[in-house]
Amino acid sequence: MANSYIVDKFGLNEKISGIVGGSGVLGGSVARALAKAGSRVAVIYNHGKEAADKRVEEISAAGGEAIAVHADAGIKKDLEEARDKILSKWGRVDILVNAPGVNSTTPILDIEEEEWKRILDINLKGMFFACQVFGRYMIQNQIKGSIINFSSVSSEIPLSKVFTYGISKAGVNNMTRFLAREWAEHGIRVNAVMPGFFPAEQNRKILTEERRTSIFKHTPMGRYGEAEELSGPIIWLASNNASSFVTGTIIPVDGGFTGMTI
Ligand SMILES: NC(=O)c1ccc[n+]([C@@H]2O[C@H](COP(=O)([O-])OP(=O)(O)OC[C@H]3O[C@@H](n4cnc5c(N)ncnc54)[C@H](O)[C@@H]3O)[C@@H](O)[C@H]2O)c1
Repeated sequence: MANSYIVDKFGLNEKISGIVGGSGVLGGSVARALAKAGSRVAVIYNHGKEAADKRVEEISAAGGEAIAVHADAGIKKDLEEARDKILSKWGRVDILVNAPGVNSTTPILDIEEEEWKRILDINLKGMFFACQVFGRYMIQNQIKGSIINFSSVSSEIPLSKVFTYGISKAGVNNMTRFLAREWAEHGIRVNAVMPGFFPAEQNRKILTEERRTSIFKHTPMGRYGEAEELSGPIIWLASNNASSFVTGTIIPVDGGFTGMTI
């Protein structure tokens, strides 16, 4: 009885998900989690086909269904082709998770236009065009979709060493709220998760020993997050039955980082 209630609330059977950045550490974990919750999953990758294929194999080995689809998040046409490949394979898309990300520690006075553009292009423009490309399909086909964007704790309070990245994520928050407002009338919910610190590829160089100490000091839980700890919030936001009245929110998953001061 309890089990069928949970399956009804959180289960994603019959749902199709596209995960931009699905070959990465957090996006890959999300792909596995959505598949375990019953969704068929498209792992959208730009480079690192091997990593994307590995995710697909892991999901298939666990009894799920997944495909790897190429798209550079900075190129709208790529995203349209990726969406169309998913549609030709499974006939619909219900859930979009936007988890591409690049970062840089360049000091503020040394940031050049090329780097600024690269980070904004992928982290903000890329996420917007993925929302637009999949959102247009959802609106035209009356799909009551769920879109989940990856924000960051650097989006609302200044965090050292990630200036351009933090600005891109502030844009992600605002965009998420705008789209939630605009698309609520179509039954499309748009939310974001705001992870604290999770060791991954894009932040490998930033998470030095010294920074780890100061992060742990400022995190009430005193540790890094583990990718799997995003699964619960993501499945909740993805499921129309579990989060039907939730849109335009930015959900911290940060061990208390943004909820404390000294
Ligand atoms: N790891 C953390 O502590 C943390 C904290 C806050 C937010 N985030 C966000 O989580 C998301 C996932 O990042 P992660 O930490 O797993 O890092 P990651 O480096 O493991 O994954 C990032 C993914 O983005 C993909 N990507 C980069 N450029 C792309 C492009 N042009 N087109 C398509 N995909 C592209 C990479 O191939 C990779 O798969 C990002 O949006 C990141 O900003 C991470």
